[in-house]
Amino acid sequence: MCGIIGILKKENSELSDNLVQSLIDLEYRGYDSAGIAIVHNSSIKIEKCLGAPSQYMDLDRFKKNIGEEKILTTVGIGHNRWATHGKPSISNAHPHLDCGGDIAVVHNGTILNYESLKENLKKQGHNFKSDTDTEVVPHLIEENMKKGLSLEDAIVESASLLEGSFGLAIIHKDYPKTLFVLKNGSPISIGISNEMFVVASSTNAILRYTDRYLVLEDGEMAKLDAENMSHNIFKYKQPARSRLYKAEQVIEGILLEDLSKGDFDTFMQKEIFEQPATTRSTILGRTNTEEGLAVLGGLIDYKEKLRNIDNLYIVGCGTAYNAGMLGKELIENLTPINVSAQIASEFRYRKQNFSPDNSVFLSISQSGETADTLESLKEMKRKGFTTLGIVNVVGSAIAHESDAGIYTRAGTEIGVASTKAFTAQAITLYLFSLSLARVHGMSESSGISFIKELESIPDIMKKVLENHQEIERIAEVFRDIEKIQFLGRGIHMPIAYEGALKFKELTYMEAGSYPLGELKHGPMAVIDDMSLSVVILPKDDLFSIGSISIEQIKSKSGRLLVITDEEGAKSPVMRLADEIIVIPKLNNPVMYPLIEVLPLQLFAYYFAKQLGNNIDKPRNLAKSVTVQ
Ligand code: G6P
Repeated sequence: MCGIIGILKKENSELSDNLVQSLIDLEYRGYDSAGIAIVHNSSIKIEKCLGAPSQYMDLDRFKKNIGEEKILTTVGIGHNRWATHGKPSISNAHPHLDCGGDIAVVHNGTILNYESLKENLKKQGHNFKSDTDTEVVPHLIEENMKKGLSLEDAIVESASLLEGSFGLAIIHKDYPKTLFVLKNGSPISIGISNEMFVVASSTNAILRYTDRYLVLEDGEMAKLDAENMSHNIFKYKQPARSRLYKAEQVIEGILLEDLSKGDFDTFMQKEIFEQPATTRSTILGRTNTEEGLAVLGGLIDYKEKLRNIDNLYIVGCGTAYNAGMLGKELIENLTPINVSAQIASEFRYRKQNFSPDNSVFLSISQSGETADTLESLKEMKRKGFTTLGIVNVVGSAIAHESDAGIYTRAGTEIGVASTKAFTAQAITLYLFSLSLARVHGMSESSGISFIKELESIPDIMKKVLENHQEIERIAEVFRDIEKIQFLGRGIHMPIAYEGALKFKELTYMEAGSYPLGELKHGPMAVIDDMSLSVVILPKDDLFSIGSISIEQIKSKSGRLLVITDEEGAKSPVMRLADEIIVIPKLNNPVMYPLIEVLPLQLFAYYFAKQLGNNIDKPRNLAKSVTVQ
């Protein structure tokens, strides 16, 4: 949610090109508007655009306005916005300036007390040009400099007045060799090479330049100096500002090719088709087939704790929550453990009844940054719970805060609608469930066959994806529908929820999701010949009962798309379906969710494509939501 970038180079260069490229790398974090600012001939020059920078940032116009063919500079900052305070507009787009136009600031996060700060600053004569919370920052710095403070002191003084969360990058027209960065609650990393510093909300935007980086912790500020390529990091609230020495880290888990679409039309399409490979990578080295065990190195110190738990909380948002629901179905199916799967934004404000003595808290997150999930985790730590995480982004806040965890190894996911991260979360939950099941009664032979089936999933996924043209055709068949609902029972229910989430994210159409048996208790009212019911019904022990719902949908003239396996497709009830997507038959029905989600991703993808929607960047959404 919002992406910030700051680049400081030893030598003059065409930095604006780098800034825009980095904004494109960070576009998944927000794309309703964007902007860059550079220090050029002792003044701040700004260029902004409405919409995604990859489409709308016009560097030729920038160069023309400045009157130079090549704009050479040493420092600049940039920002992708996902509007929270004030609608998307050029005046609300970052960077924001002080009255004198000397100081430029980009911000990720929310300044909670901005209204009172703004009131005071207005009384002191400051002029505001935007509706954002961010704009108070340059004005505060300006005010403090007016009082005679140095730039560094003015930033420190201003930061001490801010409440809320922020990642900030700050430049001043008179300091072309200096870049200031602050962190409190929003992620910031500092990439380092011999010639440059690159400050960014995510290491994704650093890797293009260097794989060496430092992580700022909350309450820290960095002064980066290009004169001698030095950095001074300190706690901005401590008067002594003692220098902190940090070990450099190496960026792991991201490849540069993850940041490009390759031969695919969109990142989402690429990520859907990557799933056989990412699934293989999630499983790799994490099974012991001879003994039917899951080998989860990250949880090794919590083996005893996990052996003795009676309860488990699983918490996440959006797709991660849907994976959590699947985890609940699985774990309750395979073990005697009670599982409460909850949406993080609800969980953090609710009373929780399990005790830390016999329970564990597990959060799931692709980004590892989602504010509601992170805050739920912190709260459970305060309550004394053991906290585990299933996280994709290595070194992210949730990974860092959790006592232990498992990385999902899906690689960088750029498409805002999550696909490969979901299946990686699901596979990780299957491994986690197996490890719990094996200490809670599952036999060795069942463990062995569970692993064999799990290891066969990547090849089966490949087969399912080969059917993509058929799914594209089916999306066309239903093009005229006015309403849609996704239905599934038991272990298929979370997949119905995930199918509906993908569909609404991409098509902007409301999509219901219900347990199949709930149909008759309300959702049936919407069924008519312009409604489509997507029913997930492979041949397992709930097939016969699920078939009744199919009859009910057809008796109300509803249109019907069924996802079933080769066995289910032979059933006479399938003659009622308008269309059927057939997936391979699996020996262990518990594994169906791992493959039945793929046609739903493709269905949403092709449906949105025919509507002409922006697939990778659906309107109003952002990939990592770091605000409440
Ligand atoms: C946002 C995204 C969703 C994502 C959810 C949780 O709402 O748009 O696609 O599922 O956040 O994100 P996380 O990074 O915690 O998995």
